[in-house]
Amino acid sequence: MSYITDKLGRPLRDLRISVIDRCNFRCTYCMPREIFGRDFAFLPKDQLLSFEEIERLAVIFVGLGVKKIRLTGGEPLLRRDISTLIEKLTAIDGLEDIALTTNGMMLGNMAKKLKDAGLKRVNVSLDALDDTVFKTINDSNTGPARILNSIDKAKEAGLGVKVNMVVKKGMNVQEIIPMAAYFKEKEIPLRFIEFMDVGQTNGWNYQKVITKGEILQLLNQHYRLEPIDPSYRGEVARRYRYADENAEIGFITSVSESFCASCTRARIAADGKLYTCLFASEGFDLRQLLRSDISEEALKSSIEARWNNRTDRYSDERTEASAAKKKKIEMSYIGG
Ligand code: GTP
Ligand code: 5AD
Ligand code: SF4
Ligand code: SF4
Repeated sequence: MSYITDKLGRPLRDLRISVIDRCNFRCTYCMPREIFGRDFAFLPKDQLLSFEEIERLAVIFVGLGVKKIRLTGGEPLLRRDISTLIEKLTAIDGLEDIALTTNGMMLGNMAKKLKDAGLKRVNVSLDALDDTVFKTINDSNTGPARILNSIDKAKEAGLGVKVNMVVKKGMNVQEIIPMAAYFKEKEIPLRFIEFMDVGQTNGWNYQKVITKGEILQLLNQHYRLEPIDPSYRGEVARRYRYADENAEIGFITSVSESFCASCTRARIAADGKLYTCLFASEGFDLRQLLRSDISEEALKSSIEARWNNRTDRYSDERTEASAAKKKKIEMSYIGG
């Protein structure tokens, strides 16, 4: 198995694959309804990678050093028959971890089937426990009870579960302590995510960011927390445990403490474009190559060359000006 590195010496370890650009929520910070409305042109089916195409790419990426694949969206559970894709990925030799990031709306009914197909873990997004606050954020009239039920079902099915909470000023700061208390009791890791400047439709600016420092200060008034070491090299979340309890939290600090130096992630968007950074403006069209008569060896070499040339470190270099730059791709298309 080869072991490739980019221009900053970072290996390729994780692959995030967006399987669909649609979502059944319209979170205001991700897919605001004014833009992602009835007339929005989502990708037609023939422009999405097929399961066979995803499998071909996954085999190549594992051959280049990838150990973990995460399926994302939009909402990945909206992709028809997603368990079949998971079965195909499970069969790939050398792949150690298959995970999925979901909004949890359809997870309750699907958890067992996903687990049986070989899925190991899910990260479930949930930004509030209060009914009104949550519905205001997701703009789709689904309350938190349904997501909490899905989380229980996923645990019962034997899936590893973590919860992602995007924290944004004026949106859900008052939910930090209730969320922490609830998931501490359940012993489910809760990760607080700093609001990031992805895409160009979510109205990001620094004033709307609540940093890890601010959240920790709030939590410290209620709990005794101790930092813990990363569970793997390149882990995105900074982790803390509650003293004397079997529960932990994490922070995803793209804005206040960037983590580009250890970034080992490649991303494939729903239409098969390869991105070497969440904040990239240009992708590399793998779908076109897959649908040509290119050999697997040549396809592998062209992916390897992209990684070898990678210099991305957007969050390390972020300024108010770079954040406002014109072309950034949407979260729902690249998969976070
Ligand atoms: P684990 O495998 O459980 O550690 O998952 P993860 O945290 O890598 O994945 P998840 O999809 O749950 O992502 C949580 C948050 O981290 C999302 O907001 C992602 O957009 C963000 N994130 C993940 N990877 C990166 C990255 O490389 N750079 C930046 N800036 N944010 C990232
Ligand atoms: N900043 C931070 N996190 C975001 N997510 C979506 N948009 C943003 C943003 N602008 C989160 C989702 C999900 C994960 C994949 O990314 O809530 O948990
Ligand atoms: Fe919300 Fe996730 Fe859907 Fe974006 S992809 S609208 S964050 S549920
Ligand atoms: Fe990786 Fe880009 Fe995120 Fe930095 S900003 S951690 S290079 S994806």
